[in-house]
Amino acid sequence: MKTPFYYYNDEVLGKTLDTINCEAAKYENFFVHYAVKANTNRQVLKRIQEAGLGADCVSGGEIQAALDAGFSAQSIVFAGVGKNDWEINLGLDAGIMCFNVESLPELEVINLLAGKKGKIANVCMRINPDVDAHTHANITTGMSENKFGIAYQDMFSIVSAAQNMENIRFKGLHFHIGSQILDMVDFRHLCSRINELVDELEARGISLDIINVGGGLGVDYVNPEDHPIPDFKDYFSTYNTYLKRNKNQQIHFELGRAVVAQCGRLITKVLFVKESRSRKFAIVDAGMTDLIRPALYDAHHKIRNISNTHTPYYIYDVVGPICESSDVFDRDISLSETKRGDYLEILSAGAYGEIMASQYNCRELPKGYISSEFPNLVQNLLQENQ
Ligand code: LLP
Repeated sequence: MKTPFYYYNDEVLGKTLDTINCEAAKYENFFVHYAVKANTNRQVLKRIQEAGLGADCVSGGEIQAALDAGFSAQSIVFAGVGKNDWEINLGLDAGIMCFNVESLPELEVINLLAGKKGKIANVCMRINPDVDAHTHANITTGMSENKFGIAYQDMFSIVSAAQNMENIRFKGLHFHIGSQILDMVDFRHLCSRINELVDELEARGISLDIINVGGGLGVDYVNPEDHPIPDFKDYFSTYNTYLKRNKNQQIHFELGRAVVAQCGRLITKVLFVKESRSRKFAIVDAGMTDLIRPALYDAHHKIRNISNTHTPYYIYDVVGPICESSDVFDRDISLSETKRGDYLEILSAGAYGEIMASQYNCRELPKGYISSEFPNLVQNLLQENQ
């Protein structure tokens, strides 16, 4: 089998989806849309669609991928700060559930394009709540300095504009404060802001059908084996406890990372072990082109040598072959003795891994395989290499 490749454990994905469904079903009108941007592998998408989640898309390409995987148009929401006309038209033609709108000019264009087709577009307004998610700056979205959403102080004027547009049906509000959030207090802060804003609208006689709270639930990158399933129980119960809502309101969630991160691993082969005066480098055939998270966000992913689980441990820097100094998966990590031809696995790589791969340095894109047969797969790999 050609390395590097992504391996998705069907069993872990299945258990994750079952847990999401079971925990969300405890509360009335909680609906989960999978944030397609986290992983668009066809089989992974199909599995998520079969589990009954909806799809949260941020481009025409993602809408098409969701439709191709069998998501019904009525289960698709479309967010994004810069929607192209063709993407809006695709959403209108397909009859998606809702556009999450991020500015007045965008709202005007959707109204115009819907009018040309004689259609009415359902919209939620994406409001920037100015709530700190206490996560990496590059994955924080809900602060006033971020490009996303409409300032919450301008909410009323844009909602009234929407209500006066002929081809727009105002459905509710949309929020998303950031990603890889592990402290429920941040979601509680979001709830408080939403409660204030909903009260303000209701005081003016405006009611909401949908409150979309976005995604952001984090996963355990440090001890993934101990916590393969994120804490959906705490997550949904936090919203149930702290978000004020009336009986008929739908609460929408857009989870990406928490759905797919822990089911995926990147498998890579050691090309060389190079010892400099101060360090041992395990040079592997995967690079930042296959998994960019460490280079882009200083993200930590646990790494293991699957060819050798016995001999003494040494300290290595695990680096890729790309001509960039940031092409490093991790530094100073302990691995069992590693040699040319060994296979390493990089854990928790199911979210924002394969989908963010690039062809920089004219490299091939990695393939992704879904199966519940990881032990067999590793055995085959190891045998192939003997
Ligand atoms: N909804 C909206 C509007 C979003 O922008 C995002 C993620 C999500 C939902 C899903 O968030 P999640 O549940 O996955 O945290 N590439 C980065 C993460 C970027 C997240 C972008 N927006 C990473 O690898 O950490």
